[in-house]
Amino acid sequence: MSILRCAIGLLLCGSTSAVNPLNFAFPENTAEPTPFQISVDAEFIQSTIEKARSYRPSFTPQNLPEWEEGAPPEAMNELARYWADEYDWADVQEEINSNFSHFTTTVTGSDKYPHPIPLHFIHERASQSNDTSEAIPLLMLHGWPSTSLEWAKVIHPLTRGHVSNASTPRFHVVAPDLPGYGFSPAATHMGLGIREMGRAFDALMHQLGYETYCIFSTDIGWGVGMWMAADSTSVTAHATDFWQARATADDQARFDRNETTAEETVYMRSTVALMNHHFGYFGVHATRPLSISLAMTDSPVGFLAWVWDLVYTFSDGYAYSKAELITTAMSLYIQGTYGNIVLYKDAATEGFNFPKTSVPTGILQFAHPNGPYAELKDYGLAPRDWTERTANVTFLRRHPFGGHFPAVSYPEVWVADVQDFFAQI
Ligand SMILES: *[C@@H]1O[C@H](CO)[C@@H](O)[C@H](O)[C@H]1NC(C)=O
Ligand SMILES: *[C@@H]1O[C@H](CO)[C@@H](O)[C@H](O)[C@H]1NC(C)=O
Ligand SMILES: *[C@@H]1O[C@H](CO)[C@@H](O)[C@H](O)[C@H]1NC(C)=O
Ligand SMILES: *[C@@H]1O[C@H](CO)[C@@H](O)[C@H](O)[C@H]1NC(C)=O
Ligand SMILES: *[C@@H]1O[C@H](CO)[C@@H](O)[C@H](O)[C@H]1NC(C)=O
Repeated sequence: MSILRCAIGLLLCGSTSAVNPLNFAFPENTAEPTPFQISVDAEFIQSTIEKARSYRPSFTPQNLPEWEEGAPPEAMNELARYWADEYDWADVQEEINSNFSHFTTTVTGSDKYPHPIPLHFIHERASQSNDTSEAIPLLMLHGWPSTSLEWAKVIHPLTRGHVSNASTPRFHVVAPDLPGYGFSPAATHMGLGIREMGRAFDALMHQLGYETYCIFSTDIGWGVGMWMAADSTSVTAHATDFWQARATADDQARFDRNETTAEETVYMRSTVALMNHHFGYFGVHATRPLSISLAMTDSPVGFLAWVWDLVYTFSDGYAYSKAELITTAMSLYIQGTYGNIVLYKDAATEGFNFPKTSVPTGILQFAHPNGPYAELKDYGLAPRDWTERTANVTFLRRHPFGGHFPAVSYPEVWVADVQDFFAQI
């Protein structure tokens, strides 16, 4: 019986190895873009529900302030109950499938990662318009804890443009899941870092027939986009809602002498607060990706608590629904968390050490005034001249609100910014 189930599981799941089944159907070796429907193994969904039902809460002292050390235990109990009794993955899956056109393909790796790279991606072409100008091919790169679903609210507005404004650009959107995230299988070998992922996505865009294209990126995907701007002559512009600018020795010396500008001072202070009080997850991911994944892959609710802590910290008070939180966790949990968490190892070393390029770059900045931690209010507001150290910044727009996931929390604002930047390109 178990041999039979295993054989069926391999057929259904197209897994790369019996030890790490993907838990969703994925066609083997599609060398060209092939229509795809997300279909997660029903037995796996059932076992996840059972794990949520048997969730074991943690002890906490009675007077521990809420959110001082992690997600609130009472709320976690309720999330676990909701996951077991009400959350319906089948409905969510149907909505994801009907919302967008999904595809899979395989691209070939490069020197550092000489293995096939299977990818899942959303591809939505610009809708027909009386405006005869060409639509812009736009590769959209998400971060952690996200997948291509971070763009769910903005993809159709980007493809549509604006009926009564011919200067509003329209886009052919290509939104892949990074390998190990969502429905792109994790790398089978070590070495598929941020830069190599960029090479894979460049191959994807060429496979789709886009000789040149633009990028929108965020978070870890920003690193992928920065490398692509350096490595591929096909990238004609790069927009992002994330920027990490490190203080130089000179910045630090000026700070110590009280000679930094007010803008530099608040940015440096918020970065220090981030590093000191809210960056533990980064250190764990970067140095102990396996250890944390052994725990998280065995506990859906534990993983949800880890994900919620991060999105709560950085989303400027956006009120995630229970279903949104669980779907975010599910999308990284289904194939197991190792493949997505391990990317931080590269982000902490070579992955974010890219060269400066001349590619025109648009930066959207969103402050965090409504988030739970006042010391993070100005995190993300890198001074313009600091951003210019690593890019040809031709557009920078700053909002006094919005947080780290603006495509989720303020989609209209985000779309207008993206349209305005690309209208200038
Ligand atoms: C489906 O698309 C709508 C926008 O058209 C979005 O708000 C919603 O979140 C999407 N659903 C999923 C499950 O991604
Ligand atoms: C587009 O053109 C058609 C006729 O060719 C017209 O009926 C329609 O109103 C136009 N749409 C817009 C948005 O201008
Ligand atoms: C038309 O669209 C462009 C690009 O998004 C924008 O900058 C401009 O303000 C819009 N014009 C009007 C009248 O809304
Ligand atoms: C630092 O400089 C600002 C003005 O640039 C001033 O208001 C502040 O008092 C100075 N702080 C110290 C400790 O010298
Ligand atoms: C930055 O990009 C703009 C727009 O493409 C271009 O005109 C300019 O020469 C670039 N600047 C540098 C320093 O590469």
